[in-house]
Amino acid sequence: MNRNVQSIIKGIKTSDGAGVNLTRIIGSPELNMLDPFLLLDEFGSEDPNDYIAGFPPHPHRGFETITYMLNGKFRHKDSAGNEGFLTDGSVQWMTAGKGVIHSEMPEQTDGLIKGFQLWLNLPKEKKMISPKYNDINADEIPIVNFKNGKIKIISGKHLGISGPGKPHTGMLYFDILLDIGSDLILPIENGWNGFIYVYSGSINILDKEINKNHLAVLTQEGELKLHSKEEDSRFILVAGEPLNEPVARGGPFVMNTKSEILQAFSDYEEGRFA
Ligand code: FE2
Repeated sequence: MNRNVQSIIKGIKTSDGAGVNLTRIIGSPELNMLDPFLLLDEFGSEDPNDYIAGFPPHPHRGFETITYMLNGKFRHKDSAGNEGFLTDGSVQWMTAGKGVIHSEMPEQTDGLIKGFQLWLNLPKEKKMISPKYNDINADEIPIVNFKNGKIKIISGKHLGISGPGKPHTGMLYFDILLDIGSDLILPIENGWNGFIYVYSGSINILDKEINKNHLAVLTQEGELKLHSKEEDSRFILVAGEPLNEPVARGGPFVMNTKSEILQAFSDYEEGRFA
């Protein structure tokens, strides 16, 4: 059995931070969440006006942010004194846990910035763990080459090779290049939710075609069979074990109940975040 396409989604143009123009693909009216994924943003522009304002200090609680830079440079700082630098091809895996206040600012004044930020929910018992950072350099991300393409393994395992990302629940994150006219079959755990997002070219799954800048939500059972028909194509494949827990959202906080959200706001306002 093969995984099929449940729906195809095109994100919405929006702006966040101090005025960064981006496309929100998950966490939008069309796709509020795909358990355990709460949000997927794509940022991509050569115009500094779209990104220069950055994301000045703001809080998070209750989940992880995974920022994958395809191109560009971002400086990360938090109120506890942690600092990180993201460059082309690197990943920052931040476990917000019980709370961080951080800034994410571009460290370039011209040129291309392109990448993704994914929010991965934490299970109920781990929402209030201590914050943690995993800064992953581009050369620490293993690449599996195959006949007609390659897979960068940010998290999860393929052909015995594991990525450096350390999720708290089952999850995979691959960045895949598939040459024109090629097929690729990938196993995904049955029961996991998953999606592909195409950022160059187009990909066929069974009889469905997913064009550039579109996300395909996958059905939950079977292998994933991909075909790149018209050109060399690039896309991310992300899948994870659903938590099946109640989700309460309040801006940058994601908890299980509304009272935990109110608690997060008062903890933040009264300076109880690190
Ligand atoms: Fe943030």
